[in-house]
Amino acid sequence: MLILGIESSCDETGVALVQVERDGAAPTLLADTLHSQIDMHRAYGGVVPELASRDHIQRVVPLIQQTLEQAQRNLHDLDAIAYTRGPGLAGALLVGAGVANSLAAGLGIPTIAVHHLHGHLLSPFLSKDPPQFPYICLLVSGGHTQLMRVTGVSEYTLLGETIDDAAGEAFDKSAKLMGLPYPGGPELAKLAERGNPQAYDLPRPLLKGLKKGNLDFSFAGLKTAVLTHCQKLGINPQEPPVTQQHADLAASTQAAIVDVLIRKSLQALKDNGLKRLVVAGGVAANTELRQQLDTVCARRDIRVHYPELKICTDNGAMIAWAAALQWQAGLATPQTDYAFDVYPRWEITGRTDGL
Ligand code: KG4
Ligand code: ZN
Repeated sequence: MLILGIESSCDETGVALVQVERDGAAPTLLADTLHSQIDMHRAYGGVVPELASRDHIQRVVPLIQQTLEQAQRNLHDLDAIAYTRGPGLAGALLVGAGVANSLAAGLGIPTIAVHHLHGHLLSPFLSKDPPQFPYICLLVSGGHTQLMRVTGVSEYTLLGETIDDAAGEAFDKSAKLMGLPYPGGPELAKLAERGNPQAYDLPRPLLKGLKKGNLDFSFAGLKTAVLTHCQKLGINPQEPPVTQQHADLAASTQAAIVDVLIRKSLQALKDNGLKRLVVAGGVAANTELRQQLDTVCARRDIRVHYPELKICTDNGAMIAWAAALQWQAGLATPQTDYAFDVYPRWEITGRTDGL
């Protein structure tokens, strides 16, 4: 079974080709192409949905051609086309869904709709050292912050999630206040390298309820505290972050986010009696988070799995891969009516059909 996967939920157009068999063997990633819109959105300080959709339209077909060329296959070799149905930007999702369904209709093959977060959740399986079920997953992206107990390909129990901003959003919004360009997460992390993480005492919300089993997150207060510090320190978001105070505030902000993510993850592992943690989503690319987690988990005999760096942020490989694993497990819902729809807001559940 040869599956083409298309990701277009936000500001990356990703296309990949995966081969999978029913025999239970790990799927094979044959080719993977990506176009990031970061440079285009940087001028506006964030993602402009209309521009994102228009750019996906321009990129997706050439990327499909490149992907097939890379794998030395052609359209008629395909057995199914997977695409991200949600969550994400409606217009952006419609591009991937529209192209996937039109192409599949022309070829007479089924489509497989994939939940974007299933793609992130299963992305560590693309690495050379994949995790084994069950595990706790810390899913930290630009739009989501969730702790999940994962017992199978589509068996997820939500243990806690953010009640306001996501971790990636906290990075992005704080970075903007400090005068850093979009996307703020990696920029703030870079600036933090030369700062003192203890310089400013920033809030670590909802840690008090930890012992009582509260695994929810809240990052809106942190953003407000960063704003207050910026005002006190005379930091102007319109000016480039060149002072030591900028670097210290960046390091302190990162320290607060990382601290909360780690302590909640450890509590989730403890509550569930598990010794395996998977970290996925764009924020999983954060070096400080990885280093601190590696240290605390080694001490507690906990195995931590991360997707490879380029798989942390949005990409087509994780969508084709998730479709392949779900198909292999008999959990995918291949469709041939091509009457597609997208779900900009889509709660994560164990089901793959979104119902
Ligand atoms: O998973 P992703 O590519 O898109 C969503 O599904 O949201 O995640 C993007 C998020 C952004 O908030 C970005 O700033 C953050 O991941 N991010 C990082 C790093 N790389 C990406 N945050 C902190 N440190 C990084 N190195
Ligand atoms: Zn994502």
